[in-house]
Amino acid sequence: MSVTLRAATRADVEAVLHLWAEDAAEATHTDNAHCLERLLSRDPEALIVAEDPDDNRGRLVGTVVAAWDGWRGSVYRLVVARTHRRMGLGGALVAAAELRLAQAGAERLQAIVVATGPGAVRFWTATGWERQSERLRFVRG
Ligand SMILES: CC(C)(COP(=O)(O)OP(=O)(O)OC[C@H]1O[C@@H](n2cnc3c(N)ncnc32)[C@H](O)[C@@H]1OP(=O)(O)O)[C@@H](O)C(=O)NCCC(=O)NCCS
Repeated sequence: MSVTLRAATRADVEAVLHLWAEDAAEATHTDNAHCLERLLSRDPEALIVAEDPDDNRGRLVGTVVAAWDGWRGSVYRLVVARTHRRMGLGGALVAAAELRLAQAGAERLQAIVVATGPGAVRFWTATGWERQSERLRFVRG
């Protein structure tokens, strides 16, 4: 598999949304062009995408958001196209996110993981990240 990873640009927004609609574990109401463009305006390095030059559909095959807010590094929207799973791409995207966040200055990283996604918890367990059970997540919006 000759997949390449790079920072996304505004030109990728439609393809990112398409991949998420097809292959993400769970849709959220921030899955739209306005929110993605706002993310890229605030932090142009935050969204990493994967392309497969051998894939003739001209689509993206993976994404991860590696967000740095000055306090924590947060990993969101790790998605690999169904056609490209179990080939190490998820691991490569997390490694790229970790590198990007370390270079930005992040010392502590966190990931929000969809607990109901069949492969997600197993994947994150396999990465060696620590599963934290003594914290709960509260959300608004
Ligand atoms: C979770 C996801 C990103 C994994 O991507 P991937 O490219 O298949 O992951 P990798 O190939 O790097 O897998 C690394 C290891 O994780 C574990 N793993 C990954 N998917 C797994 C699954 N479905 N079941 C069990 N173990 C799994 C395995 O140990 C695997 O190593 P192996 O293939 O040598 O056994 C992908 O399945 C996906 O996009 N799922 C839908 C969206 C999602 O749930 N995202 C995570 C939410 S944060």
